[in-house]
Amino acid sequence: MVQLYVYLFLVCGVATVWCDTPANCTYESIKGTWTFSIGQGGGDNTINCSTEWKPVSEYTVTLYFPDLAVDENGVQGRWTLIYNQGFEVRINYMKFFAFSMFKQSGKTVTSMCSQTFPGWVHDDYEKNWACYTGQKQDADKTTLISRRLRYSSLIKYTMNEDYINKINKHQSSWKATLYKEYGQYTLKDMTRRAGGRKSAKAFPKVSPVTPEIQKVAERLPESFDWRNKDGINFVSPVRNQEACGSCYAFGSMALHEARLRIATNNTVQKVFSTQDIVSCSEYSQGCDGGFPYLIAGKYAQDFGLIEDSCFPYTAKDDKCISTSCERYYARDYYYIGGYYGACNEALMRIELVKNGPIAISFQVYSDFEHYKSGVYHHTGLVDSFNPWEITNHVVLIVGYGVEPSTKENYWIVKNSWGTEWGENGFFRIRRGVDECSIESMAVGTFPEL
Ligand SMILES: *[C@@H]1O[C@H](CO)[C@@H](O)[C@H](O)[C@H]1NC(C)=O
Ligand SMILES: *[C@@H]1O[C@H](CO)[C@@H](O)[C@H](O)[C@H]1NC(C)=O
Ligand SMILES: *[C@@H]1O[C@H](CO)[C@@H](O)[C@H](O)[C@H]1NC(C)=O
Repeated sequence: MVQLYVYLFLVCGVATVWCDTPANCTYESIKGTWTFSIGQGGGDNTINCSTEWKPVSEYTVTLYFPDLAVDENGVQGRWTLIYNQGFEVRINYMKFFAFSMFKQSGKTVTSMCSQTFPGWVHDDYEKNWACYTGQKQDADKTTLISRRLRYSSLIKYTMNEDYINKINKHQSSWKATLYKEYGQYTLKDMTRRAGGRKSAKAFPKVSPVTPEIQKVAERLPESFDWRNKDGINFVSPVRNQEACGSCYAFGSMALHEARLRIATNNTVQKVFSTQDIVSCSEYSQGCDGGFPYLIAGKYAQDFGLIEDSCFPYTAKDDKCISTSCERYYARDYYYIGGYYGACNEALMRIELVKNGPIAISFQVYSDFEHYKSGVYHHTGLVDSFNPWEITNHVVLIVGYGVEPSTKENYWIVKNSWGTEWGENGFFRIRRGVDECSIESMAVGTFPEL
């Protein structure tokens, strides 16, 4: 049995920064007819699919682009790709999720998108868990090969005043500053903080806005902010992820915290444990990354979230500790637009106003690290002292507005780099132009009350 965590150790454990798993699978490589080989059912969410298990049944399902799934009896369901990492199928009162397969030899990683690692299946009532693996039928044997890059964990981040001055001279819509604390970080730390290096090309294009959606969006207020909705703040405090690639955990917890406040009219104000995610979730890769769909969504529904005080944050890949603390669950979770790749600015605003903040991913360039205030857009300027590869950072959109002097549309976004960073821990970024791919994928959840 191929064991995912062994690979993850090899790939992520040794001075490499490759966020999440190195699989790089597309809709093109996943759609088709799959056979799921399923182990003995009747388990619960403590099932361990990394141990030896034997398939006892098969289930065949065809996945059509973009979200229709049909099984061998014609039963219809839905599915979504999850970035380039794997896919979830919801069909026949069951939910299947597994990471896509990859292999590694030396510095070369090979994605094998027509197979999965052992994954989890359970029914819609969170009962009857089993392990399964997926194999695509008639899969062409083409595999995707990519080289991985190593950042030495020894190279220090170089404070570069010159770069800051350049950014501030180049444009006037936002201001850059040199954050002193960056001096303590290595290049690897900085990359991890910003979400880790990723196949940036896996950001989908923004989906076209239909006339119906356009009409709804036009009726929304010109500006909106969950920090001040009729004088009330529904957004939990800004936190600091430090030098661990846990942005996805912070963004996901921030999403739940805000949505729980909204659902209870601020009578339930929780801060959830990001360490529980980093240490215990098998749907993500600890300090090496993860995705809000799988954490704010699937993990919260399958395992529940605990309060931060129950398992406080250490910013390290510490061992999981089991606790008897109360758990808070997600009733449902979804990509805005219905599946990965169906997102756009209008849908995001509608979701934001109607249901609450949304977790999003965007591309971080080196200039963003130095954001202090204003409406950010990427300047294209390169920090010549600090080599930088685009990363994929997860944050929470809490509002939107229009800058009065420039008429520039922006999003208001909660970051997890502490309150000293940016505008009291928040930033504003251009809206409506898919700046840094910020409008390409967004996730919402509903808390179970
Ligand atoms: C699952 O089993 C593997 C192999 O026996 C073990 O190393 C791992 O710690 C187990 N995981 C959990 C969450 O118990
Ligand atoms: C991932 O796949 C896409 C589409 O095939 C490709 O453009 C991109 O370069 C790949 N990324 C990596 C890191 O291999
Ligand atoms: C929500 O809370 C606010 C402030 O405490 C209160 O004024 C308002 O009446 C509450 N709304 C509902 C629907 O309970």
